[in-house]
Amino acid sequence: MNKDVEKILVTEDELHKIARKLGEQITKDYKGKKLLIVGVLKGSVYFLTDLTRYIDLPCNIDFMQASSYGSSTVSSGNIKITKDISEDLTGFDVLLVEDILDTGNTLKHIYDMLITRNPESVAVVTLLDKPERRIADITADYIGVDVPNEFVVGYGLDYNQYYRNLPYIGVLKKEIYEQK
Ligand code: IMP
Ligand code: MG
Repeated sequence: MNKDVEKILVTEDELHKIARKLGEQITKDYKGKKLLIVGVLKGSVYFLTDLTRYIDLPCNIDFMQASSYGSSTVSSGNIKITKDISEDLTGFDVLLVEDILDTGNTLKHIYDMLITRNPESVAVVTLLDKPERRIADITADYIGVDVPNEFVVGYGLDYNQYYRNLPYIGVLKKEIYEQK
């Protein structure tokens, strides 16, 4: 285990099972639809690549990126879109893929923006949910697993851009982010 990680919350094996279970469910739910999968960079990348292997449907895949200005472990309400997708979503059923739904501010901003572009629907799949911390009025349609109110890293999730490449989800030791 990485020395900066206090404990492992979701193992590699569990992550794989989550991707398969959600991918199979999405395959059933989106049959016959014009599916556009949109990953929210960068955190969702590991989850998206595993999840989509289990989505047995024709689909488009694209990415968006948003940045929020605030302290490094809490997102602020000031969201800026730094990479966008097509303006016209006519006919598409959009599935947003997130790493973690925390305050919900980021996803709510993206959701409200996409819904104005005439899609058939917009739904959300998140690997992790921290329901305790929700501020924005948004819920995910598909949730991998709920996590407690602790700062987690790995499998795409970062602290100051590090730890994304850990193959599991772990709780970051408090001393790592409290020393700054
Ligand atoms: P929200 O806007 O507060 O829901 O935060 C969304 C983004 O903040 C996520 O997509 C993550 O990039 C980041 N984030 C929130 N909680 C954590 C965490 O525990 N570890 C790593 N990143 C996090
Ligand atoms: Mg992040």
